[in-house]
Amino acid sequence: MRVIVCNDYDEMSKRAAKLVASQITLKPDCVLGLATGSTPIGLYENLAEMNRLGEIDFSGVTTFNLDEYYPISPENDQSYRYFMNEHLFNKVNIDINRTHVPDGQTEDPEAECARYEKMINDCGGIDLQILGIGQNGHIGFNEPDNNLNTVTHLTGLTQSTIDANARFFKSKEDVPTRALTMGIASILKSRKIILLASGRTKYKVVRELLNEGINTSVPATMLKVHPDVVLICDKEAYASMYLGVDIGGTSVKLGVIDGFNNIVYKDSLPTHKDKPAKAIIDNVAKVCSDIIARFPVSAVGVGTPGIIDFEKNTVSATNLPFDNAPIVDWMKETIKLPIYINNDANCAALGEAVAGEGADVRDMFMVTLGTGIGGGIIIDKKIYMGAKGDAGEIGHMCIEANGIPCSCGSRGCWEKYASVSALIEQTEAAAQKEPDSILAKVVEKNCVVDGKTIFEAKIQGCPVAERVFDQYIDYLAIGIRNIINIFRPGIVVIAGGISEAGNMILEPLVKKVNSSVPIRISRLQNDAGIIGAALLGRDK
Ligand code: PGA
Repeated sequence: MRVIVCNDYDEMSKRAAKLVASQITLKPDCVLGLATGSTPIGLYENLAEMNRLGEIDFSGVTTFNLDEYYPISPENDQSYRYFMNEHLFNKVNIDINRTHVPDGQTEDPEAECARYEKMINDCGGIDLQILGIGQNGHIGFNEPDNNLNTVTHLTGLTQSTIDANARFFKSKEDVPTRALTMGIASILKSRKIILLASGRTKYKVVRELLNEGINTSVPATMLKVHPDVVLICDKEAYASMYLGVDIGGTSVKLGVIDGFNNIVYKDSLPTHKDKPAKAIIDNVAKVCSDIIARFPVSAVGVGTPGIIDFEKNTVSATNLPFDNAPIVDWMKETIKLPIYINNDANCAALGEAVAGEGADVRDMFMVTLGTGIGGGIIIDKKIYMGAKGDAGEIGHMCIEANGIPCSCGSRGCWEKYASVSALIEQTEAAAQKEPDSILAKVVEKNCVVDGKTIFEAKIQGCPVAERVFDQYIDYLAIGIRNIINIFRPGIVVIAGGISEAGNMILEPLVKKVNSSVPIRISRLQNDAGIIGAALLGRDK
């Protein structure tokens, strides 16, 4: 299979039109096999224009269309006969009697299919066949199946095709569920085949087509047995990549992911949070532009701390100078691609759910332990946003009535007991109370208390550190049990700096939570946020 990669849809349409025009010029009475769908519309526009300019003559051309819905009347504006008349036949000097589309009104589909197949053969077969490709790899309406019907036949449409085609109908219920279609052998008998693919929704299937061997679950791979197939696609269909930006208090991490969620390029820059918000974002946008110039990126996703007002598209964050900052609008001044934004904890959860520990389950809950406690809820592989986009503030669920006061105005919030900041406070208090303990010595030696101090003292066999840690795990377990009771997710994933402690934290936690729901440490760590942000663009 020859592959021609074009910059965009227009170039793809022009390249295809030139090949079809050459066919007509070489053999004015040629037989063309035609396709419908959104992809070939540009090709037909180009052909109509060439015909108008007198560059090609359709008067001797015969056409056969790949398929037609069943049942449907040719007058129905969703029928493929109507489509062809509108987009090509009415605009060129073709003899309408030489244009053929399977009869969607036939009372005997089997006889109609046999008649259609015979008619193609009687015309000497198709010289040049145009094909689109479905997101599930179908060509014509030859859907993925164990056995592919070879000749023209009546077939049922798969749900994914019905969903993909629903955009042309008033509602999903109006999409016909059956169609008459040429079979794979009818298509393969054509002397020459042009396969068109455009846009990022086709990236995955184009990758499968190019990378996989012949198999019936991607029907288009059957084309690999044909000696003269050319795939003409645009860059987005050939190599769509997504840029994820994870804004943090200290650094901004960026990464480009391919269609299989692999990070193919990574970068980072200091946030410079002392600067005004606009300057920070301009700097990020500039680095994004440099990356976009080097990779075929088709969308950008941004994960940011703080609260996002999804109506106004602004961000306010306490640990960054963002006060109703229109981050996306600012980035759009430099970047001419779709840009999507979400909370950083949500992005990390999405990344982990799709490409990390949550890859095998549908529903996942991610708990990020840091200065506070963040939560990301993934239901059916999608971020659960809540009514206003701010669901998942689990750090502020109450675990102790009249407990420690929290900056949110409430008392007894989980993050006052189980965040890394809380662990540091607990460590400091214990070291002060027990000045002769190993813990106090470790604190004295390090001159500073951080999230690692307690582990260091524990390793040295300090019973005070053991006690503090045990109490901390108790607090952590209470919150996680609450989460499990409410959500029963397929998995709970622990993320944030403290997860570096690995089994030292996981084992006692699993024991105390004592649930059949698996609890794991984030596999992707910092990459989860980048991948999740990038996925915001892909899964739109
Ligand atoms: P599309 O359909 O051109 O509308 O994407 C292609 C196909 O389903 O074959």
